[in-house]
Amino acid sequence: MQLVNRPTVGSLPVAPQGSIVLSIEDLSKAYGRGKQRFEAVRQVSLTLHRGEVLAFLGPNGAGKTTTIKMIAGLVRPDRGQVTIAGEDPHRHARALRHLGAVLEGNRNLYWRLTPEENLEYFGVLRQMPRKIAHRRGLELLDRFELLDKRNTPVQKLSRGMQQKVAIAVALIHDPQLLLLDEPTLGLDVEAGETVKALVREIAQEGRAILLTTHQLDVAEELSDRVAIIRRGQIIAEQSTEALLQEFSDSTYQIEVEGTLTVAQTQQVAQLGAIVEGPHITYAGTPENLYALLAALQPLPIFSVQRDRADLTQVFLKLVQDTQDANP
Ligand SMILES: Nc1ncnc2c1ncn2[C@@H]1O[C@H](COP(=O)(O)OP(=O)(O)OP(=O)(O)O)[C@@H](O)[C@H]1O
Ligand SMILES: [Mg+2]
Repeated sequence: MQLVNRPTVGSLPVAPQGSIVLSIEDLSKAYGRGKQRFEAVRQVSLTLHRGEVLAFLGPNGAGKTTTIKMIAGLVRPDRGQVTIAGEDPHRHARALRHLGAVLEGNRNLYWRLTPEENLEYFGVLRQMPRKIAHRRGLELLDRFELLDKRNTPVQKLSRGMQQKVAIAVALIHDPQLLLLDEPTLGLDVEAGETVKALVREIAQEGRAILLTTHQLDVAEELSDRVAIIRRGQIIAEQSTEALLQEFSDSTYQIEVEGTLTVAQTQQVAQLGAIVEGPHITYAGTPENLYALLAALQPLPIFSVQRDRADLTQVFLKLVQDTQDANP
């Protein structure tokens, strides 16, 4: 490993750009015994690089939280391996110093303590000297625009503020990997936007983020890559952009101002387009698209748009298809 010129975030060195922060290999976990035995996670493998946001998606009960708990060292896998920044948290608890997690709501906070006290407390718990934990806590509160609330007990803060404090606490020891379970659930539009902006910023600092959410628009906006899990198995894993491209078809919606002449309508129909007043739908070759646009002259063109799948459509299709294949 190269030790010189490593970029730093805050005080701790982080892995070089593009390097693997998390790798899980063939993770499996069954709950119960005998007839009650249930395989919640089956041979799941994933890698997560520095600066990358991976959206880990799946229907209820698919195995997301179980996988996350195995990564966080809270549930022991039956098989497989977790490696965080080169260390296995199930063998060496010190691997957890690379990891911060906000699991299921705000349970990583003490509600009667203030944000400042929570940050210091969890910093010390993470083996930081009290003074340093306190200083870094204040820096995080400043950055999350919570300095004026630093002495208010967490239970008196709004949900959005509590969520920001929970993320700050997860970052107190400067981890390379952040696990976020439903970070925007129950937040209003503005608080949701703030948390999304923070997630983006945290990734830009070079941390790797594993994000679970049922809000697929949030996943689409934030993630570089998507992994979809269903009944304990990964059914798709790809860059978000490639996945959306793959499911987007080459249909164009063209809008003009005014009405097409009869001759224009015929010409356009010959190229395979469907005309409904000023709306034209075209699904053909790119060359013919130019011919079509030429045929519309001199009508002003209002817009040309390519239909694009969104992550919700992709998700439903993938989950449905695998269900049909393995009912
Ligand atoms: N402690 C447990 N004991 C027995 N079964 C469990 C336990 N924890 C989870 N399960 C089961 O394992 C499966 C996966 O659960 P998990 O919580 O990992 O799903 P999830 O993908 O996080 O779902 P959700 O989207 O609803 O949060 C479910 O069938 C669940 O009932
Ligand atoms: Mg869950």
